[in-house]
Amino acid sequence: MTNLKGKHIILGISGGIAAYKSVVLLRLLVKAGAEVQVVITPHGKEFITPVTLSSLSGKPVISEFFTANTGEWHSHVDLGLWADAMVIAPATASTLAKMATGVADNMLITTYLSAKAPVFVAPAMDLDMMAHPTTSRNLATLKADGVHVIEPEVGELASHLVGRGRMEEPEKIAQALDAFFAAEQTLKGKKVLLTAGPTYERLDPVRFIGNFSSGKMGYALAEEAGRRGADVTLVAGPTALADPIGVKTIHVESARQMLEACLKDFSRTDIAIMAAAVADYAPKQCLDHKIKREHDGIENIELVKNPDIAASLGQLKTAGQMLVGFALETDNAEANAREKLLRKNLDMIVLNTLADAGAGFGTDTNKVTVISQDEKIAFGLKDKHAVAADILDCICKNL
Ligand code: PMT
Repeated sequence: MTNLKGKHIILGISGGIAAYKSVVLLRLLVKAGAEVQVVITPHGKEFITPVTLSSLSGKPVISEFFTANTGEWHSHVDLGLWADAMVIAPATASTLAKMATGVADNMLITTYLSAKAPVFVAPAMDLDMMAHPTTSRNLATLKADGVHVIEPEVGELASHLVGRGRMEEPEKIAQALDAFFAAEQTLKGKKVLLTAGPTYERLDPVRFIGNFSSGKMGYALAEEAGRRGADVTLVAGPTALADPIGVKTIHVESARQMLEACLKDFSRTDIAIMAAAVADYAPKQCLDHKIKREHDGIENIELVKNPDIAASLGQLKTAGQMLVGFALETDNAEANAREKLLRKNLDMIVLNTLADAGAGFGTDTNKVTVISQDEKIAFGLKDKHAVAADILDCICKNL
């Protein structure tokens, strides 16, 4: 682990039995050359003493907003600016909930809310709490906010029950941080143009033709490219997602608007990645009033072909520019993807198929195969943030 040397890391500890493993994590981070500031919740101190933690980190442990006897105020804002990364291990159900909703009633949460650096959480709790829809909802919110979730393992828990909820081992958490810094800045100086989400093609003021894309895949790519130092422009169709931090996001609705936005940026772009699910057809006419049930002829909506954004950029592409497309298939997946690679003049195509459970639209996970003229790499089912990292690794390798 050579990439942690000199990094400033906030180690957040909340009140769970897995806090004993945080001591090992702290030791590993310090041994790898990181400067670590421990922030522990009041309940965390019930499980592990600040003396142990400050002895290992070489810094006083922060828990309260003020030091009681001196009145010294601990600035969560300064801490948030100081850190290169924040890792909360263990992250209890309560801490995850407070993070997801912004309940800033302790120093750990105020520090999280002030953190400018990437944040990692390693959840740890009993299996029923882990499986509860509230926990899933909070984790989904945090993922959408860009928090990296180091998934818990299945194993024996403090309750002696066996199930999912065991905090990942300290070695693995340290490795995840090391890998994060290893991938850093590989796109520094590069301009990346991304499309994400669906397009909506209006029929009338209340109806449209669209698809099930949530934008998660494209947004994960935008976040990951930004994290690697790229100057990212994200052209997004309608989604419920928050704009990624540090990414210029242009919101569009239709395929034509998406094309227009892409054309404005493409000549300055080094890498264009087309993750949007663009509607291939639009109604020939968009009425200015709501179509009534009784309206004659509505059974047959006349459609016109939308522009193919990826193919249009493929025609404009010059030497030194890289164009990456996606292929969403249901059958003849690889053959169709290869045909699109050639027809759209792409350098690489990312194939995902709805035949794979957990892949494609709406899910937090995806399973992709990255195909270029002379290479094909198949990846397993992963969280879309990890998939984004795999795709960008392939792109960086071919730059
Ligand atoms: O958004 P999520 O819910 O996370 O789901 C992710 C995803 C399934 C939408 C994503 O992974 C994906 O596969 N995106 C491409 C979907 C698609 O439209 O595939 P396609 O095979 O129809 O299109 C091939 C390529 O041409 C794509 O890069 C597409 O962006 C592009 N295209 C298609 C039609 C069109 N008119 N213009 C285009 O640019």
